[in-house]
Amino acid sequence: MANTILVPDDAGLNAERDAQPAVHFAATSVADHVALGLTKLLRFSADTFFAKRYGHRAVVLETVAAVPGMVGATLTHLRCLRTMADDNGWIRTLMEEAENERMHLMTFIEVAKPTYVERLLIQLVQALFYIGFFGLYLVSARTAHRLVGYFEEEAVLSYTLYLREIDEGRAPNIAAPAIARHYWHLPADATLRDVVAVIRADEAHHRDVNHGFACTLARQLDRTPAQAPYPRHASTLRPSA
Ligand SMILES: [Fe+2]
Ligand SMILES: [Fe+2]
Repeated sequence: MANTILVPDDAGLNAERDAQPAVHFAATSVADHVALGLTKLLRFSADTFFAKRYGHRAVVLETVAAVPGMVGATLTHLRCLRTMADDNGWIRTLMEEAENERMHLMTFIEVAKPTYVERLLIQLVQALFYIGFFGLYLVSARTAHRLVGYFEEEAVLSYTLYLREIDEGRAPNIAAPAIARHYWHLPADATLRDVVAVIRADEAHHRDVNHGFACTLARQLDRTPAQAPYPRHASTLRPSA
């Protein structure tokens, strides 16, 4: 994967912000519509619960976002063992996605501390979502990847709105947490805005990968999207000090 972007330049960032929703995979099949409908329902729930508390929203939703990659990797691994077939790199890609999402969580936990109610919500949602997503992946991996593709479209939108809150002074642009500076190779004077920008780029990459996997499983190779690149990551998750 190309790892050339550190922080999108202002021109690119503003262009993407103004073009929102920048990328949307048009739903054509029943599976696509189910995935899109579920995504809209969950988006509405998140908007109702969090409103513009983007830091808290990020913490809670990143605990969910880190689940599908690990479920997909596990079930793909088991299928490859049973069928003695090559995984074409899917397992590592999905494990990397899960790890990347967990780093989003570890970053935002430095920015916003979840309330007691949010911690309870995280426990409940994880149990329901893990079981639900596992079941969906077993029944229709294609729908599961399409669902994640649509989730990631919403994540890109949410982080775009978070950037707007920062740019317009409604959310403080504090210094970037050390763990984020290390993970994304950001400069010492990086800010929260820089971090949200690279996280949004991560979500765009997940979006394209998952829509691509869904297209592969649906044999719609002509609809496979071009992949937005990942920002450069650290080879280790934590600073060694
Ligand atoms: Fe994320
Ligand atoms: Fe993501």
